[in-house]
Amino acid sequence: MISLKGRNFLTLKDFTPEEITYLINLAAYFKKLKKEHVLHDKLKGMNVALIFEKTSTRTRSSFEVAAHDLGMGTTYLDPKSSQIGKKESIEDTAKVLGRMFDGIEYRGFGQEIVENLAEHAGVPVWNGLTNEYHPTQILADMLTIREHSGSLKGRTLAYMGDARYNMGNSLMIGCAKLGLNFHAVAPKKYFPDPALVEQCRKWADESGAEIVLTEDVMQGTKDVDAVYTDVWVSMGEPDEVWEERIEDLTPYRVTMDVMRNAAKDAIFMHCLPAFHDLDTEIGREINKKFGLTCMEVTDEVFKAYDKPVFDEAENRMHTIKAVMAATLSDDWEI
Ligand code: CP
Ligand code: NVA
Repeated sequence: MISLKGRNFLTLKDFTPEEITYLINLAAYFKKLKKEHVLHDKLKGMNVALIFEKTSTRTRSSFEVAAHDLGMGTTYLDPKSSQIGKKESIEDTAKVLGRMFDGIEYRGFGQEIVENLAEHAGVPVWNGLTNEYHPTQILADMLTIREHSGSLKGRTLAYMGDARYNMGNSLMIGCAKLGLNFHAVAPKKYFPDPALVEQCRKWADESGAEIVLTEDVMQGTKDVDAVYTDVWVSMGEPDEVWEERIEDLTPYRVTMDVMRNAAKDAIFMHCLPAFHDLDTEIGREINKKFGLTCMEVTDEVFKAYDKPVFDEAENRMHTIKAVMAATLSDDWEI
Protein backbone atom coordinates (compact mmCIF):
# COMPACT_ATOMS: atom_id res chain seq x y z
CA MET A 1 0.00 0.00 0.00
CA ILE A 2 1.27 3.47 -0.87
CA SER A 3 1.19 6.09 1.88
CA LEU A 4 2.35 9.65 1.28
CA LYS A 5 1.09 10.97 4.61
CA GLY A 6 3.36 13.65 6.03
CA ARG A 7 5.37 14.05 2.80
CA ASN A 8 6.14 17.36 1.10
CA PHE A 9 5.35 17.80 -2.59
CA LEU A 10 8.18 19.98 -3.88
CA THR A 11 9.31 18.31 -7.12
CA LEU A 12 8.47 15.05 -8.88
CA LYS A 13 12.15 14.12 -8.54
CA ASP A 14 11.31 13.03 -4.97
CA PHE A 15 8.58 10.58 -6.02
CA THR A 16 8.71 7.09 -7.49
CA PRO A 17 6.72 6.23 -10.63
CA GLU A 18 4.38 4.18 -8.41
CA GLU A 19 3.78 7.13 -6.09
CA ILE A 20 3.10 9.50 -9.01
CA THR A 21 0.71 6.96 -10.53
CA TYR A 22 -1.04 6.64 -7.16
CA LEU A 23 -1.61 10.42 -7.10
CA ILE A 24 -3.00 10.37 -10.64
CA ASN A 25 -5.32 7.47 -9.74
CA LEU A 26 -6.45 9.24 -6.57
CA ALA A 27 -7.20 12.37 -8.66
CA ALA A 28 -9.28 10.30 -11.11
CA TYR A 29 -11.17 8.87 -8.13
CA PHE A 30 -11.89 12.35 -6.73
CA LYS A 31 -12.91 13.54 -10.19
CA LYS A 32 -15.48 10.75 -10.38
CA LEU A 33 -16.82 11.55 -6.89
CA LYS A 34 -17.11 15.23 -7.80
CA LYS A 35 -18.99 14.46 -11.04
CA GLU A 36 -21.36 12.19 -9.10
CA HIS A 37 -21.86 14.86 -6.41
CA VAL A 38 -20.55 12.50 -3.74
CA LEU A 39 -19.20 14.40 -0.75
CA HIS A 40 -15.60 13.62 0.16
CA ASP A 41 -14.98 16.01 3.03
CA LYS A 42 -13.03 13.67 5.30
CA LEU A 43 -10.49 16.35 6.19
CA LYS A 44 -13.01 18.47 8.10
CA GLY A 45 -11.34 20.46 10.85
CA MET A 46 -8.07 20.89 8.94
CA ASN A 47 -6.80 24.20 7.55
CA VAL A 48 -4.29 25.08 4.85
CA ALA A 49 -2.30 28.24 4.10
CA LEU A 50 -1.88 29.32 0.48
CA ILE A 51 1.11 31.60 -0.13
CA PHE A 52 1.26 33.25 -3.55
CA GLU A 53 4.23 35.51 -4.33
CA LYS A 54 3.28 35.34 -8.03
CA THR A 55 -0.18 35.72 -9.55
CA SER A 56 -2.45 32.76 -10.32
CA THR A 57 -5.90 31.82 -11.58
CA ARG A 58 -5.85 28.00 -11.88
CA THR A 59 -3.53 27.02 -9.04
CA ARG A 60 -5.11 29.27 -6.43
CA SER A 61 -8.65 28.30 -7.46
CA SER A 62 -7.67 24.62 -7.49
CA PHE A 63 -6.20 24.72 -3.99
CA GLU A 64 -9.20 26.63 -2.64
CA VAL A 65 -11.92 24.50 -4.26
CA ALA A 66 -10.08 21.25 -3.53
CA ALA A 67 -9.52 22.20 0.11
CA HIS A 68 -13.17 23.13 0.54
CA ASP A 69 -14.31 19.88 -1.14
CA LEU A 70 -12.11 17.98 1.32
CA GLY A 71 -13.75 19.87 4.20
CA MET A 72 -10.78 22.14 4.96
CA GLY A 73 -10.50 25.85 5.60
CA THR A 74 -8.12 28.04 3.57
CA THR A 75 -6.18 31.25 4.21
CA TYR A 76 -4.73 33.11 1.22
CA LEU A 77 -1.54 35.08 1.79
CA ASP A 78 0.05 37.35 -0.78
CA PRO A 79 3.30 39.29 -0.33
CA LYS A 80 1.46 42.61 0.04
CA SER A 81 -0.81 41.47 2.84
CA SER A 82 1.71 39.39 4.82
CA GLN A 83 5.13 39.90 6.40
CA ILE A 84 6.75 37.13 4.32
CA GLY A 85 10.23 37.97 3.07
CA LYS A 86 10.18 41.66 3.95
CA LYS A 87 9.76 41.69 7.72
CA GLU A 88 9.97 37.98 8.49
CA SER A 89 12.27 35.26 7.19
CA ILE A 90 10.97 32.16 5.43
CA GLU A 91 12.21 30.08 8.35
CA ASP A 92 10.25 32.08 10.94
CA THR A 93 7.19 32.19 8.68
CA ALA A 94 7.34 28.42 8.29
CA LYS A 95 7.53 27.93 12.05
CA VAL A 96 4.55 30.22 12.65
CA LEU A 97 2.34 28.81 9.89
CA GLY A 98 3.27 25.25 10.87
CA ARG A 99 1.76 25.91 14.32
CA MET A 100 -1.58 26.96 12.84
CA PHE A 101 -2.07 25.06 9.61
CA ASP A 102 -2.08 21.40 8.58
CA GLY A 103 -0.42 22.10 5.23
CA ILE A 104 1.12 25.01 3.30
CA GLU A 105 1.13 25.77 -0.42
CA TYR A 106 3.84 28.05 -1.79
CA ARG A 107 4.08 29.72 -5.23
CA GLY A 108 7.02 31.98 -5.81
CA PHE A 109 10.55 32.33 -7.07
CA GLY A 110 13.54 30.07 -6.30
CA GLN A 111 13.04 26.40 -5.48
CA GLU A 112 15.29 26.95 -2.44
CA ILE A 113 12.54 29.08 -0.86
CA VAL A 114 9.94 26.29 -0.93
CA GLU A 115 12.62 23.82 0.25
CA ASN A 116 13.44 26.14 3.16
CA LEU A 117 9.76 26.48 4.03
CA ALA A 118 9.37 22.69 3.99
CA GLU A 119 12.44 22.21 6.18
CA HIS A 120 11.00 24.34 8.98
CA ALA A 121 7.21 24.04 8.73
CA GLY A 122 6.73 20.61 10.32
CA VAL A 123 3.64 20.09 8.12
CA PRO A 124 3.41 19.10 4.42
CA VAL A 125 4.46 21.86 2.01
CA TRP A 126 3.24 21.83 -1.61
CA ASN A 127 4.98 23.58 -4.49
CA GLY A 128 2.43 25.65 -6.43
CA LEU A 129 5.16 26.75 -8.94
CA THR A 130 8.71 27.96 -8.61
CA ASN A 131 11.11 29.15 -11.31
CA GLU A 132 12.49 25.62 -11.55
CA TYR A 133 9.46 23.33 -11.16
CA HIS A 134 5.68 23.14 -11.42
CA PRO A 135 4.96 19.61 -10.17
CA THR A 136 1.19 19.86 -9.55
CA GLN A 137 0.76 20.94 -13.19
CA ILE A 138 2.42 17.74 -14.40
CA LEU A 139 -0.03 15.54 -12.51
CA ALA A 140 -2.89 17.34 -14.28
CA ASP A 141 -1.11 16.98 -17.62
CA MET A 142 -0.60 13.25 -17.14
CA LEU A 143 -4.21 12.69 -16.09
CA THR A 144 -5.29 14.60 -19.22
CA ILE A 145 -3.06 12.56 -21.55
CA ARG A 146 -4.30 9.34 -19.95
CA GLU A 147 -7.94 10.42 -20.39
CA HIS A 148 -7.42 11.32 -24.04
CA SER A 149 -4.97 8.64 -25.15
CA GLY A 150 -5.95 5.82 -22.80
CA SER A 151 -2.42 5.26 -21.49
CA LEU A 152 0.84 7.00 -20.61
CA LYS A 153 3.70 4.52 -21.11
CA GLY A 154 5.08 4.60 -24.63
CA ARG A 155 3.37 7.89 -25.57
CA THR A 156 5.46 10.80 -26.82
CA LEU A 157 5.19 14.42 -25.72
CA ALA A 158 6.93 17.24 -27.59
CA TYR A 159 7.57 20.42 -25.61
CA MET A 160 8.11 23.49 -27.79
CA GLY A 161 9.61 26.73 -26.50
CA ASP A 162 11.70 27.59 -23.45
CA ALA A 163 12.54 24.08 -22.22
CA ARG A 164 14.89 25.30 -19.46
CA TYR A 165 12.22 26.71 -17.16
CA ASN A 166 9.65 25.23 -14.75
CA MET A 167 7.39 23.59 -17.34
CA GLY A 168 10.13 22.10 -19.53
CA ASN A 169 12.00 20.76 -16.50
CA SER A 170 8.96 19.28 -14.80
CA LEU A 171 7.51 17.70 -17.93
CA MET A 172 10.86 16.07 -18.67
CA ILE A 173 10.98 14.61 -15.14
CA GLY A 174 7.34 13.45 -15.26
CA CYS A 175 7.74 11.84 -18.69
CA ALA A 176 11.01 10.13 -17.72
CA LYS A 177 9.50 8.67 -14.57
CA LEU A 178 6.23 7.53 -16.15
CA GLY A 179 7.67 6.11 -19.38
CA LEU A 180 6.63 8.75 -21.90
CA ASN A 181 9.17 9.82 -24.51
CA PHE A 182 10.04 13.50 -24.05
CA HIS A 183 11.12 15.73 -26.94
CA ALA A 184 12.42 19.21 -26.12
CA VAL A 185 11.98 21.12 -29.39
CA ALA A 186 13.79 24.43 -29.02
CA PRO A 187 16.89 26.40 -29.98
CA LYS A 188 19.96 24.91 -28.26
CA LYS A 189 20.25 27.66 -25.68
CA TYR A 190 16.72 26.81 -24.45
CA PHE A 191 17.49 23.12 -23.86
CA PRO A 192 17.13 21.99 -20.22
CA ASP A 193 20.12 21.93 -17.90
CA PRO A 194 22.49 19.07 -18.91
CA ALA A 195 22.70 17.75 -15.32
CA LEU A 196 18.90 17.45 -15.15
CA VAL A 197 18.83 15.82 -18.60
CA GLU A 198 21.37 13.26 -17.42
CA GLN A 199 19.35 12.52 -14.28
CA CYS A 200 16.15 12.18 -16.34
CA ARG A 201 17.87 9.88 -18.84
CA LYS A 202 18.57 7.48 -15.96
CA TRP A 203 14.89 7.43 -14.96
CA ALA A 204 13.95 7.13 -18.63
CA ASP A 205 16.22 4.07 -18.99
CA GLU A 206 14.30 2.44 -16.15
CA SER A 207 10.86 3.35 -17.49
CA GLY A 208 11.70 2.57 -21.13
CA ALA A 209 11.37 6.18 -22.32
CA GLU A 210 13.61 8.28 -24.50
CA ILE A 211 14.67 11.90 -24.06
CA VAL A 212 15.40 13.79 -27.25
CA LEU A 213 16.65 17.37 -27.52
CA THR A 214 16.28 18.82 -30.99
CA GLU A 215 16.23 22.16 -32.79
CA ASP A 216 14.32 20.61 -35.69
CA VAL A 217 10.57 21.30 -35.35
CA MET A 218 9.35 18.77 -37.90
CA GLN A 219 11.65 16.01 -36.63
CA GLY A 220 10.78 16.72 -32.98
CA THR A 221 7.02 16.74 -33.48
CA LYS A 222 6.74 13.90 -36.03
CA ASP A 223 3.93 11.53 -34.97
CA VAL A 224 3.96 12.68 -31.32
CA ASP A 225 0.86 12.13 -29.16
CA ALA A 226 0.93 15.53 -27.45
CA VAL A 227 2.33 18.91 -28.47
CA TYR A 228 2.91 21.09 -25.40
CA THR A 229 3.90 24.73 -25.15
CA ASP A 230 4.06 27.51 -22.55
CA VAL A 231 4.55 31.28 -22.53
CA TRP A 232 7.87 32.54 -23.87
CA VAL A 233 8.46 34.83 -20.89
CA SER A 234 7.60 33.46 -17.46
CA MET A 235 6.36 35.29 -14.39
CA GLY A 236 9.14 37.19 -12.66
CA GLU A 237 11.31 37.51 -15.78
CA PRO A 238 12.20 41.07 -16.88
CA ASP A 239 10.36 42.72 -19.81
CA GLU A 240 13.70 43.21 -21.57
CA VAL A 241 13.84 39.55 -22.56
CA TRP A 242 10.72 39.74 -24.79
CA GLU A 243 12.58 40.88 -27.89
CA GLU A 244 15.13 38.08 -27.76
CA ARG A 245 12.50 35.43 -26.95
CA ILE A 246 10.30 36.52 -29.84
CA GLU A 247 13.23 36.33 -32.21
CA ASP A 248 14.45 32.96 -30.92
CA LEU A 249 11.13 31.20 -30.31
CA THR A 250 8.85 32.35 -33.14
CA PRO A 251 10.01 29.38 -35.29
CA TYR A 252 8.90 27.16 -32.39
CA ARG A 253 5.31 28.43 -32.28
CA VAL A 254 2.66 25.69 -32.38
CA THR A 255 0.94 26.05 -35.76
CA MET A 256 -1.47 23.90 -37.74
CA ASP A 257 1.54 22.56 -39.71
CA VAL A 258 3.03 21.31 -36.44
CA MET A 259 -0.25 19.68 -35.39
CA ARG A 260 -0.60 18.03 -38.84
CA ASN A 261 2.92 16.65 -38.45
CA ALA A 262 2.01 15.08 -35.07
CA ALA A 263 0.03 11.82 -34.72
CA LYS A 264 -3.46 11.83 -36.26
CA ASP A 265 -5.22 12.00 -32.89
CA ALA A 266 -2.57 14.17 -31.17
CA ILE A 267 -3.65 16.68 -28.56
CA PHE A 268 -2.41 20.23 -28.05
CA MET A 269 -1.53 21.06 -24.44
CA HIS A 270 -0.75 24.26 -22.55
CA CYS A 271 -0.52 24.90 -18.81
CA LEU A 272 -2.20 28.28 -19.45
CA PRO A 273 -2.44 31.25 -19.45
CA ALA A 274 -1.74 31.36 -23.23
CA PHE A 275 -1.09 34.19 -25.65
CA HIS A 276 -3.08 33.06 -28.70
CA ASP A 277 -4.94 36.30 -29.56
CA LEU A 278 -5.08 39.99 -28.71
CA ASP A 279 -7.60 39.67 -25.89
CA THR A 280 -5.02 40.28 -23.15
CA GLU A 281 -3.19 43.41 -22.04
CA ILE A 282 0.26 41.89 -22.62
CA GLY A 283 -0.86 40.42 -25.96
CA ARG A 284 -1.88 43.90 -27.13
CA GLU A 285 1.34 45.50 -25.82
CA ILE A 286 3.45 42.95 -27.69
CA ASN A 287 1.33 43.48 -30.79
CA LYS A 288 1.96 47.24 -30.63
CA LYS A 289 5.69 46.80 -30.11
CA PHE A 290 6.50 43.78 -32.31
CA GLY A 291 3.44 43.33 -34.56
CA LEU A 292 2.64 39.78 -33.36
CA THR A 293 -1.02 38.69 -33.21
CA CYS A 294 -0.22 35.53 -31.24
CA MET A 295 2.84 34.13 -29.55
CA GLU A 296 3.56 30.51 -28.56
CA VAL A 297 0.45 29.09 -30.29
CA THR A 298 -1.77 30.31 -33.11
CA ASP A 299 -5.38 31.13 -32.35
CA GLU A 300 -6.38 28.55 -34.96
CA VAL A 301 -4.63 25.71 -33.10
CA PHE A 302 -5.82 26.93 -29.71
CA LYS A 303 -9.46 26.99 -30.82
CA ALA A 304 -9.29 23.73 -32.79
CA TYR A 305 -7.77 21.84 -29.83
CA ASP A 306 -9.42 23.60 -26.89
CA LYS A 307 -11.15 20.54 -25.36
CA PRO A 308 -8.01 18.87 -23.96
CA VAL A 309 -6.57 22.24 -22.92
CA PHE A 310 -9.57 23.04 -20.73
CA ASP A 311 -9.74 19.44 -19.48
CA GLU A 312 -6.12 19.99 -18.46
CA ALA A 313 -7.11 23.16 -16.57
CA GLU A 314 -9.98 21.37 -14.81
CA ASN A 315 -7.66 18.51 -13.90
CA ARG A 316 -5.49 20.93 -11.91
CA MET A 317 -8.19 20.90 -9.26
CA HIS A 318 -8.62 17.11 -9.09
CA THR A 319 -4.86 16.47 -8.98
CA ILE A 320 -4.14 19.20 -6.41
CA LYS A 321 -6.89 17.65 -4.31
CA ALA A 322 -5.10 14.31 -4.57
CA VAL A 323 -1.80 15.85 -3.45
CA MET A 324 -3.35 17.49 -0.38
CA ALA A 325 -5.47 14.45 0.48
CA ALA A 326 -2.60 11.95 0.16
CA THR A 327 -0.10 13.98 2.16
CA LEU A 328 -2.58 14.82 4.94
CA SER A 329 -4.22 11.40 5.38
CA ASP A 330 -3.84 7.81 4.25
CA ASP A 331 -7.48 7.03 4.78
CA TRP A 332 -8.38 6.79 1.09
CA GLU A 333 -9.58 3.53 -0.39
CA ILE A 334 -9.16 3.60 -4.12
N1 CP B 1 -1.14 26.76 -15.05
C1 CP B 1 -1.10 27.55 -13.96
O1 CP B 1 -0.34 27.33 -13.02
O2 CP B 1 -1.98 28.58 -14.01
P1 CP B 1 -2.06 29.79 -12.97
O3 CP B 1 -0.81 30.60 -13.14
O4 CP B 1 -3.31 30.54 -13.35
O5 CP B 1 -2.14 29.22 -11.59
N1 NVA C 1 6.33 29.15 -17.20
C1 NVA C 1 5.14 29.83 -16.72
C2 NVA C 1 4.15 28.83 -16.22
C3 NVA C 1 2.84 29.44 -15.78
C4 NVA C 1 1.87 28.42 -15.27
C5 NVA C 1 5.53 30.81 -15.64
O1 NVA C 1 6.33 30.46 -14.78
O2 NVA C 1 5.04 31.95 -15.67
